[in-house]
This record gives sequence, structure tokens and C-alpha cells, in this order.
Amino acid sequence: MRQMIIGNWKMHGLLQTGAELAQEIGAAIGPISDARDVVLAPPFTLLSHLAPLLARHGIGLGAQDCHADAEGAYTGDISAEMLADLGVSHVILGHSERREHHHENNALIRRKVQRAREHGLCPVVCVGESEQQKEDTLAQAWLAKQITECLPRDFDGILAYEPIWAIGTGKAATQQDIESRLAFLHDALSQHLETDDKSTRVLYGGSVKPEDAASILAVPGVGGVLVGGASLSARSFLGIAQAGLPLAS
Ligand code: 13P
Repeated sequence: MRQMIIGNWKMHGLLQTGAELAQEIGAAIGPISDARDVVLAPPFTLLSHLAPLLARHGIGLGAQDCHADAEGAYTGDISAEMLADLGVSHVILGHSERREHHHENNALIRRKVQRAREHGLCPVVCVGESEQQKEDTLAQAWLAKQITECLPRDFDGILAYEPIWAIGTGKAATQQDIESRLAFLHDALSQHLETDDKSTRVLYGGSVKPEDAASILAVPGVGGVLVGGASLSARSFLGIAQAGLPLAS
């Protein structure tokens, strides 16, 4: 299965700086995208601005959230259909920052997943345990609950394992931790999903940097990485995207 590299820009980027960053990444992405799928998820305000540029370079256009309802009196919100209308291909849902700051729960995230699918968007659903839940049994119960409650049984999107304690801390999970968590997640997915296949891509996210990207991408079961801070520099994002590929120098 092809691995996927997603850059989540979070709340960063203006018209000019965003276009410069996307342009720099686009200019160098050719040989990488022969081997891996690359998606950039800028803030909503840059989606239509960057859409033609990213399309020209074969980079997917991702959004960072959508509303659960089709439309309505929801001041400040963005619907899945609006995203599809702009050419968005992927939408990150249930990120821990939205769970924390916008009080999103699993039931709401499941509705967003279904809405995204209805409009042809590929959901990238984030799950992950907190520092307090790091211990194995607690973490497994929490992750299993997130999977069964966030994902409809016919889910055909992408799962992103992002341990909360690794996000923005500079401390990525170890290869062994990622391997055992991903084995658990793949197992939980095959029990929960009616498709009963192992084809769901599971990404790792949390302080991925160019230095450790090759070892993370080599972990069995890793379908790619979801990159936050390091996606804000073309050099570091490209370093991650090409890590471990024969073309990397
Ligand atoms: P960092 O790479 O900055 O830790 O962020 C990870 C993340 O939240 C990606 O969605």
C-alpha cells in the first residue's frame, strides 16, 4: 500500500506565505509523489487560493474540519459540500485539538465522517491517548472506544494515530510504541469494520521530524505520517516526505 504524507498547517499561513510554501513543496514533489501520496491541509482561508497550484503538482488538498450537518444556521462553520465544491479531497476529523478546544466527542465526529463521505471527501480520523492514559490497558480501551464510536462500520477512510502527549512536544513515540499501537489499531479496525480487510491506512502523527521520519515510516503497519509543525517549512516537510525512499540523498 502506498504511504501517505499529510501536512497539517493548523492555524498558520497567509495568502503570500502559504502560496510560497506550497509552491516550494510543489516544485520538488515530483519524484516523491511517484512513490507516496502527498496531501496538504492549509487553513480554510487558503483552500481555494492553493487548489490550482496543488492540483498542478499532484498534491491532494485537505481541510482540517467540517460541520456535521449539511447546511444551516451555524455561524462561522464550513460544510463538507463547501469543501468538495473547492476541490478538497481529504478532511481531517476529530483532531485532539478540536476535541479539546471545541469539545468534540466521538458521536459528533462519526456524524462528520458520514457527512464527509456523502460529499466524496476522504476522512482522516484522528485517535490518540493522553499522557494519563499512556499505560497499555487504559490506552487500548480508549483507542478501541474511539474506533467503534467514531467510525461507521462501512468506514473507508484513513485513521491517524496521534498520541496527544507527542503532539507539538518534540517527543515522537518510539518505533516500538508505534508498532505495538498500530498492531492494536489494525486489529481493532478489522474487528469493527464490516469490510474485514486490513487495507485501512493508519498514519502516525506527533512530532514527526525529518531525522526520525525514515525509521517511523519503516515501522510495520505504518501507512504514512500526519505532520504538524514540520510541515510549515518546505525543507523539513520534503525531508519527511522523501525519507527512506531510494531518491533521498
Ligand atoms: P506536530 O507534528 O507539530 O507534533 O503536530 C502533529 C499533529 O497534530 C498533526 O495533525
